[in-house]
Parts: sequence; structure tokens; C-alpha cells
Amino acid sequence: MLSEARMESKDRPALLGGPRACDFEWPRWPVHDESERRLLLEVLDSGKWWFGEKVRAFEAAYAAFQGSRFAVTCTNGTTAIEMALRGVGVVEGDEVIVPPYTFIATASAVVTVGAVPVFADIQPDTLCLDPDDVARKITPRTRAIIPVHVAGRMADMARLNTLATRHRLAVVEDAAHAWGSQWQGRGAGTLGRCGTFSFQVSKNLTAGEGGVMVTDDEELADLCRSYTHCGRRKGSAWYDHDYLGSNLRMTEFQAAVLLAQLGRLPEQVARREANAQVLEAGLRDLPGIRLLAPAPEMTRRSYHMFIFRADEQELGLPRARFIEAVQAEGLPVSEGWYRPLYRNGVFANAHLGPAHGITAPLASAAIDYRGVRCPVCEAVCKDAVWIPHAVLLAGAERLAKAVSAIRKVAQNAPALRAD
Ligand SMILES: Cc1ncc(COP(=O)(O)O)c(C=O)c1O
Repeated sequence: MLSEARMESKDRPALLGGPRACDFEWPRWPVHDESERRLLLEVLDSGKWWFGEKVRAFEAAYAAFQGSRFAVTCTNGTTAIEMALRGVGVVEGDEVIVPPYTFIATASAVVTVGAVPVFADIQPDTLCLDPDDVARKITPRTRAIIPVHVAGRMADMARLNTLATRHRLAVVEDAAHAWGSQWQGRGAGTLGRCGTFSFQVSKNLTAGEGGVMVTDDEELADLCRSYTHCGRRKGSAWYDHDYLGSNLRMTEFQAAVLLAQLGRLPEQVARREANAQVLEAGLRDLPGIRLLAPAPEMTRRSYHMFIFRADEQELGLPRARFIEAVQAEGLPVSEGWYRPLYRNGVFANAHLGPAHGITAPLASAAIDYRGVRCPVCEAVCKDAVWIPHAVLLAGAERLAKAVSAIRKVAQNAPALRAD
């Protein structure tokens, strides 16, 4: 009798007074060790703080890691997309197809270069651009497509590239979450014309801020370098500015930190992948939990987040209550940051004119985003559950406790709903 009572109390959700399934600290992010310290001090003591040896070394190392010929660093992932769009020839009035399930930068970069973002829906299994909807959104004004490799899960690059070739479009991969992800052995960012990455502080490879564009196209790399470097051309005199550029240069301090971070990335990617398997195996048969479909083409995956979908009907619990209960178990899940991008004021109010932050071309063309609907994205925004990547750096036994936390909540849905 006593042991039965103990069982019951152990299995009670933390939200209803039971013990937490994860009564420990998850790994913190970002991480650093002596290698960051040593490389930073090297820069500090050298007095060469600006755009030198370490930036070059990082660019070479990152290009090699991702499998591209060139890498051009810049201030962040947003400016990386902007310069890539300019580099591939997107100009005012062009249309660029983007997904709505992403960070604002994917679409705002399009507006910043004077073009018009056109939203195409995502696939329910990959959460990335749906090639069928992209095909429907192509017009004579379409110039480029920006697939986003959400959480390190890659978009269907084979089909998107086929479409792009047929319609003579440039593919700029927003690989801001996909450091190390591979599609049939080829690195994210190297399958389109170019790819961009972010090194902002939440990212799996970080220097607090930073960005890079990778490409095999030397002319494009030189052009983007010029944009980052006040419009100077390779080999031109210091005060000759042949292009309209900006100052988007990465500092030596950032590159020092990134070199150290890159040193441990391969091991971290392997650990996140192995731990993601633990989560998948533990959750696969759980009613109400929908894992993303397997991606056999993906030969490596960065896991910026582990995302699954919660079917409220089958689970018998609203997502918000499910998340609250899993958080109470000590697992930091969330509904994620994304809502359909076109619902943000910057787009939803574009028809009102430049007072709302967008000048040409959106305002003058009277573009009205209020009628845009991407049903899959809207559904995913209502049922996605995100687990941050730092959780995937814990030991396998802790990941097993993460599974227990989710299972305990799912199995106690009726009690949690009633409370
Ligand atoms: C998908 C995506 N694209 C672009 C960016 C922009 O990167 P940054 O914050 O470095 O400007 C981010 C940043 O979160 C992102 O998640």
C-alpha cells in the first residue's frame, strides 16, 4: 500500500505537487574555455584588433568546414543576407520568395535591398519552404528564393534548385541555424548560389554577434567583400571606392572567439545528434506528440532546436498547459519565437504607407499583406514545441529524464486539464 502511494507521488506532475523529472541544471549557453581566452589575449596583445589574420583564418576554416570555396565574414546574419541579395543582383522592385516561419531578418533583408518579400508556405514535416507553394508564387518579377533551414533541418534543396534553374532564380540559403548541417554530404549554404549564417549569441557557433556568407563563386565573394569593406575592390587603392558599400567588417576579437568555438563544434554537433536520437526514440510512440518526419537526405544536422508538434486533441491538453507542465518538470520547452512573419506590423501595416517603416517599394506599390495566408505555417505556430540546443549537450541519462518529463505530462493530461 505504502509503495503504491509512493509510486503515485513519484508519477505526479510537478505542477500538481509531484517531484520534478529534471531536478538539475541544463548546460548553459554560450560556453568557452582556455582556447577563447588564449586567442582573445593573442589579439589583445598583438595590437591588431581589426580585420586581419584571425578573420582570414576563421574564413578559411569556416569555408572548409561547410565545404565552400569562399567565406566572407560580416557583422551579423542580417547583413549577411542583405549583402548576399545585393551580390546575386536583387534590385528594387524584384520579388523574393521567403518562408513565414523564420526570424524577421529573412524577410526584412529583402525590403532593405528594395525588393518585395513574397511569402510561400512551409512543409509540415520539414518546417521549411514548400517547393510546391514556391512554384505557385513565382511571377515574372521573381528574382530569388531564400530557403531557411529551420533549426538546422534543411529545406528540400533538390526541388528548390530545380525550380530555380527552370526560372533563372538565385537561391540564397538562410542557413543561420545550420552550421554543420549537410544534405547528402554537402554543407548547408553550399547548395544554392550562396548561403548565410548568424553567430549571434543564441547560436550554436557564436561570438555574441557576427555573420558570414559562403559561396563557390569567386566573383560573388569579391563583390560581397567589397560591400562589407566600404565598396573597395580587390586590389584597388585604399581610398578608391568603386561600389556602394558599407562597413560590415568583423573584428579580430570576434574571429578569435569563433575560431575557438569552431574547434569544438564538430563534437557538439555529434553530441546533439546523438541526444536528439534519444528524444526521438523516447517520444516516438507517445500519443499527441508528433515528431518531424525523418530526413534521409540529411547526413548531418546541427539541431539549433529540437522541434516537435503537440496535437492538442490527441494529447487532451492545450499546448500552453502542456508547456507549463513540462517547464515545471524542469525542462525548458517553449512555443518558440515564431509567428507568421506577415502578421508582424512591418508587413501587416505596409499598406498604410511609409510612416510604418517601409518606404519604397512596398508602400508605393500599395502592397497589402493582410490577405496573405500560409495555413501550414499558421498551424505550426499554434502547435510547435521547441527544446533549446543547449539541452542536447547534456549527458544521455539527462536526456532520458527529459523524455520522462514529457511522458509524465502527456500521461497525466486528464489531471492537468482538470486542475
Ligand atoms: C533564420 C534566421 N535568419 C537570420 C537571422 C539574423 O541573424 P542575426 O541575428 O545575426 O542578424 C537569424 C537570427 O536569429 C535567424 O534565426
